[in-house]
Amino acid sequence: MAILNADELDIISHSAEQTMRLGSRLGALLQAGDVVCLSGDMGAGKTVFTAGIGQGWGARNPVTSPTYNLIHQHERARDDLKLYHLDCYRLRDANDAETIGLDDILEGEGVIVFEWPERIASALPDARLWVELRVTDVTRRNLIFSGQGARYKDLIVALREKAYGV
Ligand SMILES: Nc1ncnc2c1ncn2[C@@H]1O[C@H](COP(=O)(O)OP(=O)(O)O)[C@@H](O)[C@H]1O
Ligand SMILES: [Mg+2]
Repeated sequence: MAILNADELDIISHSAEQTMRLGSRLGALLQAGDVVCLSGDMGAGKTVFTAGIGQGWGARNPVTSPTYNLIHQHERARDDLKLYHLDCYRLRDANDAETIGLDDILEGEGVIVFEWPERIASALPDARLWVELRVTDVTRRNLIFSGQGARYKDLIVALREKAYGV
C-alpha cells in the first residue's frame, strides 16, 4: 500500500478474488446516497469490484454486468435501500444519461455505482468516490481511490482501516 496523500488510497490486487474482497469491504461501508465511480478499461475489473460491493452491501442477488441493460437495481433484506449499478459504456453524453432516468436515481436514497462514468461526466455529482482501476499484469490490478467531498474522504479513511487495520 502506498499512501500518496491522506485522501488517496493506492492498492494492488493480485487476483479477481482479492478485488472482489476489496469491493465487499467498501460495500459494507456504503450509506444511502453514496456515489461510486469506477474508471478503467475493459477487463480492468469494474464489474468484479461491483460484485464485491453488492456482496458487502448485502444485495439479495449476485451482481452481474449491466452492459446490455445499462442499469441494474439491487435490493437487500435489511431495509428498503437500493443499489443501482450503471454501465455507461454505450451512452454518448449526459443527455443519454437522462434517458435512463439518472436524475431520479440521483435524487433518491440509493447507492449508485457507475462503470464508464467519464461517458457522462457532466451528469455526475461533484461529491463522489472515484476509483481508477488499471491493468498492470494479467492478474494484477492497481486500484486508486480518491474522494471528492468530506463524506468520501471519510469513506477512504474507513476503507483503509478495514483493508489494512491502519
Ligand atoms: N486482480 C484482478 N482483479 C479483477 N479482475 C481480475 C484480476 N485478475 C484477473 N481478473 C479478470 O479480469 C476480468 C475483469 O472483468 P470485469 O470485471 O468484467 O472488467 P470490467 O467490468 O472492468 O470490464 C475478469 O475476467 C477477472 O477474472
Ligand atoms: Mg464491466
